[in-house]
Amino acid sequence: MQIPRLHPDTIEQVKERADIVDVVSEYVVLRKRGKDYQGLCPFHEEKTPSFTVSPGKQMFYCFGCQAGGNAIKFLMEVGKRAFGEVVLDLARRYQVPVQTLEPAQRQELQRQISQREQLYEILAVTTSFYQHALRQPQGNLALEYLKSERGLAEETIQSFQLGYAPSGWEILYKYLVEQKSFPVQLVEQAGLIVPRKSGGGYYDRFRDRLIIPIHDTQGRVIGFGGRTLTDEQPKYLNSPETELFDKGRTLFALDKAKDAIGKQDQAVVVEGYFDAIALHEAGINNVVASLGTALSLNQVKQLLRYTDSKRIILNFDADAAGTNAAERAIGEIANLAYQGEVQLRILNLPKGKDADEFVKSKTDGAAQYQELLDHAPLWLDWQIQQTLVNRDISQSDQFQQVAQQMVKLLSNIENAASQTQYLELCAKLLGKDDSRSVTLLIESLRKQLKKLNLPLQPKTNNQQQFIPVPAKTDRDLLKQAEILLLKIYIHCPQYREDILFALEDRDLLFSLQYHLVWQYFQELALKSPGIIYTSEEIISLLQDFSVKLPKNIANFIHLFHLDEKSQLEILKPHLVIRTAVASLERVKCELQRRYCLQKWRNLEKSAKDWVFYYQQFHQADRRIHELDLERYSSLESS
Ligand code: UTP
Ligand code: MN
Repeated sequence: MQIPRLHPDTIEQVKERADIVDVVSEYVVLRKRGKDYQGLCPFHEEKTPSFTVSPGKQMFYCFGCQAGGNAIKFLMEVGKRAFGEVVLDLARRYQVPVQTLEPAQRQELQRQISQREQLYEILAVTTSFYQHALRQPQGNLALEYLKSERGLAEETIQSFQLGYAPSGWEILYKYLVEQKSFPVQLVEQAGLIVPRKSGGGYYDRFRDRLIIPIHDTQGRVIGFGGRTLTDEQPKYLNSPETELFDKGRTLFALDKAKDAIGKQDQAVVVEGYFDAIALHEAGINNVVASLGTALSLNQVKQLLRYTDSKRIILNFDADAAGTNAAERAIGEIANLAYQGEVQLRILNLPKGKDADEFVKSKTDGAAQYQELLDHAPLWLDWQIQQTLVNRDISQSDQFQQVAQQMVKLLSNIENAASQTQYLELCAKLLGKDDSRSVTLLIESLRKQLKKLNLPLQPKTNNQQQFIPVPAKTDRDLLKQAEILLLKIYIHCPQYREDILFALEDRDLLFSLQYHLVWQYFQELALKSPGIIYTSEEIISLLQDFSVKLPKNIANFIHLFHLDEKSQLEILKPHLVIRTAVASLERVKCELQRRYCLQKWRNLEKSAKDWVFYYQQFHQADRRIHELDLERYSSLESS
């Protein structure tokens, strides 16, 4: 039998009208036990009844074999029938008018899904087109350029899917629109053709350029960079932002680098497409390129997903105006670095070379580059070194300037132990290792620091801080917060977005116990944007969902019902959300704090990561205090 696609309203009405006791009674002898009914389970052999049916929740559940679900699920299981078939049957039985999904609605749904798919397809077809053109006579010059001037191997040209955009005005246009019949609007939306200013029609965006496809992390092409082979400006022309190509979130070559970044627990960021390509060819694979702009926070977050220790090495052009260029390239991560959230290192190549030029300039260029990577200084160390570049500190005015800059850098360091460490380093650099003057310099720098009115942190030796909160308290805190959020999510529809945003914003997940329910909510929100389900609808959806994970069934059923106490608890949802989210983050921070403390304690003071874990520990500690304030202030106002 061909089952039509049923309208969600029909399914909902069937669920509402069908009575579970009625339905199950046809197959199982049920006896009333309190509010519920009991009988022998039809899904497994048993002599004493462990099969229960709850008319209140409209669900069945077997304590023996953990089968469970609503009336529809029961009939599907018992008769081995399809969902649609069962719903149709029940609709007839309970006189529910059957509506099928309207074609228009179905088409709109389909259209939205397929538009993105089509954009991906257009870009994939275009990539092949450009790759093909590179192998035609017209692409000869470009291919020669890649092989001779760039010295790239055939394998690299293939794996980066490099190509050539022919020099006519409508070559790609004709290919995609006339030959391949892609809708012209979509080709325009993909950023490949540009509408003519007058006279109508379109022309190709990329003409007579070497083409470098830009991939997303899953390896799908989302845009292109096109390098001129002549002196034409700009040197690189890039795809515009499109529905698929978000420059602020994209890093070139991340799809090819992510595994290596994970394995080496460290990422290298270079500036140019060809820097990344050259390093990958040389076997240094944990490298991405920033697309020539300052690193954005979102780009960095993409990277940090793959390195547990959050280690990033920035390799940018050093020939540009020194420190300023660095600050610019570092862009929005400066703050993350100050807070110790990323361990940022800086690599400047000698003589202002970029990575591509460096690797190719000598036979063991790759090995030397790797060597430089391994010894890249921390950002702060690099900044301190920079204060000395082109300065003669035997001249007293220059000495003073350098010392002042150092003090300013030292004042950025947030924890006392590492501040002291760096203070000693600066003194050594200024005193040129003469031990007597170093001691004096330490004192002098310390005084200047104090004058800047930035107190050293007093807390570092306070042992009390190091006592971890017992894990059980955290577990209770977590559970309580999660339950409150889920209750609000289910019973207060207008607050759902707030919860979704708050958790997303702080990058929080639910713990194992409620993880699946939460994941289900997130998927639901993604699948049906703009639709606000009533709490009854959500409960019914959850019931259906719970059927798929029978063993966890008791896990969240208690959330469906609000007793008087819980109603009071969530009387002011926005405050409850704030407190609960802060509690979740607190528990996460606490774990991090303990982890860093443990790491730090087990490291030698001279170890490379000693300062890092120390900073991380302190940062987590500070955040916990902030969160506690946040929690108590919302509690007070409620
Ligand atoms: P660079 O100008 O530093 O050049 O641009 P490069 O990468 O060394 O270029 P080659 O070696 O001469 O080919 C660095 C990056 O900045 C972006 C590109 O991503 C480039 O790789 N860029 C540069 C543009 O997007 N447009 C431009 O006009 C120039
Ligand atoms: Mn270059």
